[in-house]
Amino acid sequence: MHNAAFDHLGLNWRYLAFDVHPDNLRGALRGICDLNFVGVNLTVPHKLLAFKMVDSTDKEAQLLGAVNTVVVEDHKLTGFNTDGYGFKRAVREEFGMELRGRRVLILGAGGAGRALAVQCAVEGAAAIFIVNRTHSKAVSAVAEIRKLVPHTFAVAMPMELKHIAKHLNEVDLVVNATSLGLRPGDPPPLARFPRQCKWLRVYDTIYRPAETRFLAAARKAGAQTANGLSMLLHQGARSFEIWTGRRAPVAVMRRALHKAVYG
Ligand code: ATR
Repeated sequence: MHNAAFDHLGLNWRYLAFDVHPDNLRGALRGICDLNFVGVNLTVPHKLLAFKMVDSTDKEAQLLGAVNTVVVEDHKLTGFNTDGYGFKRAVREEFGMELRGRRVLILGAGGAGRALAVQCAVEGAAAIFIVNRTHSKAVSAVAEIRKLVPHTFAVAMPMELKHIAKHLNEVDLVVNATSLGLRPGDPPPLARFPRQCKWLRVYDTIYRPAETRFLAAARKAGAQTANGLSMLLHQGARSFEIWTGRRAPVAVMRRALHKAVYG
């Protein structure tokens, strides 16, 4: 999507992928300075490590303690985080919905789940329910959110239907931020939705397959559903704008991304 955007704007730039072992991250980041890179994206497992290695960070990266975008300038590295922005934009685009004032149930309290929960809190969500297999991680995510955005209503819940079911009738948005659904045999993180739940929006951060078992169950129950491709697109578009200072050609990037992912 980035190369399509560079071509579209006539920029003689290239976006390349490098597989870097975590032990070599520091060297790789110094290397991009020496090689005159404009910047890089970082993904799992580098986002937390990179936060400690860059020279400065923006507000979003500080909130999440994680960096997914780096800019190189005068041999100095600045870290940004565009994941929360990507999520906010995706929810707006897919469901015509702002997070402000909404009640959100997030499945997963790993890196992705925490990032989404923090974004919901920053945006002023009315309630945030965090569900995780390892309950202690949901509890610490809630504590962290309350520290970052005091007065946020946030609750940690175990990943059991009896705990989740009673909240499903009163939330606006359910998000899967677990890795369940990435592999073909995975059970869905949540398989049962209220019947005729037309009010419910259900988002899966997974985008391959295009419809996970989780999204299929939600759709059959009547919910509006969307997958994580829009979040991937918008975090990328924001990174593009940070690097280039130009408005991202989102439609061009969307087409290229769709083609790359689904053929
Ligand atoms: P990411 O950065 O993508 O969020 P992660 O930090 O490894 O990756 O988090 C993976 C998430 O998927 C966690 O919420 C994890 O639950 P645990 O914290 O209990 O590990 C969740 N997850 C992974 N496999 C799971 C499974 N089989 N059942 C339930 N949750 C699972």
